[in-house]
Amino acid sequence: MRAEDVLFSIPFPVAITDGEGRILYANQKFEAFANRSLKYLQGKPLCLFFDHSESISKRIREAHSKLVEILGFRVGDYYLNFAPFYVSSAVRGVIIVVQPATENLFDEDILLFLKGLSHEIRNPLSGIKGAARLFQRLKCYDEELVNVLVEEVERIERLLNDVIRSFDFSRLDFKPVNIHKIIQNVVNLFRERIEEKGIEITYLFDPSLPEISVDSDRITQAFMNFFKNALEAVEDSKLKKIFIETGYAIQPSGFIFIRLRDTGCGMNEQELNQFLAPFYTTKDRGSGLGAFIASEIIKKHGGEVKVKSRKGIGTEVTIYLPMKER
Ligand SMILES: Nc1ncnc2c1ncn2[C@@H]1O[C@H](COP(=O)(O)OP(=O)(O)O)[C@@H](O)[C@H]1O
Ligand SMILES: [Mg+2]
Repeated sequence: MRAEDVLFSIPFPVAITDGEGRILYANQKFEAFANRSLKYLQGKPLCLFFDHSESISKRIREAHSKLVEILGFRVGDYYLNFAPFYVSSAVRGVIIVVQPATENLFDEDILLFLKGLSHEIRNPLSGIKGAARLFQRLKCYDEELVNVLVEEVERIERLLNDVIRSFDFSRLDFKPVNIHKIIQNVVNLFRERIEEKGIEITYLFDPSLPEISVDSDRITQAFMNFFKNALEAVEDSKLKKIFIETGYAIQPSGFIFIRLRDTGCGMNEQELNQFLAPFYTTKDRGSGLGAFIASEIIKKHGGEVKVKSRKGIGTEVTIYLPMKER
């Protein structure tokens, strides 16, 4: 078996340098990586082909002089692995294996979301586990413990229902709809609650708005999430008013807007910054997904959501949707 054949077959770029980092040999994968022939490469400093050349030279000298392996040294999109190169037990240089950094399976947002989700599931699970353990010890029926079990399981159910219903955006069903009808339908769903709490709803609709092409169910869901927040915000405040306005957006042009203004508790700057983040909630039974999901839906329609709020005064959520399907 020839050493060259082995190096040729290794699925990563491999180079061998002397103790100073000058290339003695490189396999064909390294030639492709550097986009240079072996002939050209030989004698050139390896670090020429990477950023952070100084730190690479240092690692090479270290591997060579201290006879240590240095694994997983990150340079840009690659991990470099350094090991002393022995020929018949004598160190002749350093062998360097270049590994592409494996792409993270999820992007940052999804990662954050999954972290939040795991955290949100773990909380009720520990409640369930605690209650079950107590049961184990007590060995008798306890009403309160059963309630804890049921409530915590329900919390997980609510959460997962939200997640499942909301993240299947693959089949958006675009059809022309009357946006005012959607708004009216959502408000009607809460009619009883609105009357019971004495909430005043004011409509400022622009009747000249055209029908726009959206996924009606999704937009209903998005508007409902924001509307529910407005209801919850005014329910305990002195002034219980919600204004729903529609119109043509001036900026950006080509968009219509739906604006929800409430006279509820409002948010300070710090709360406002977290408002759209998944799992941010200040409510006992909140999932913190309502606003996040609603804004994801609007984004999937090529629109955007803008929020203004003042603590103790109220909140204004404006949904912009393109008039032409994107
Ligand atoms: N209209 C509003 N007025 C005041 N605070 C609001 C309003 N809408 C949302 N919030 C704040 O943002 C948080 C996140 O909202 P949301 O994502 O819908 O989750 P949830 O309603 O489950 O708490 C709420 O818990 C609340 O603190
Ligand atoms: Mg909500």
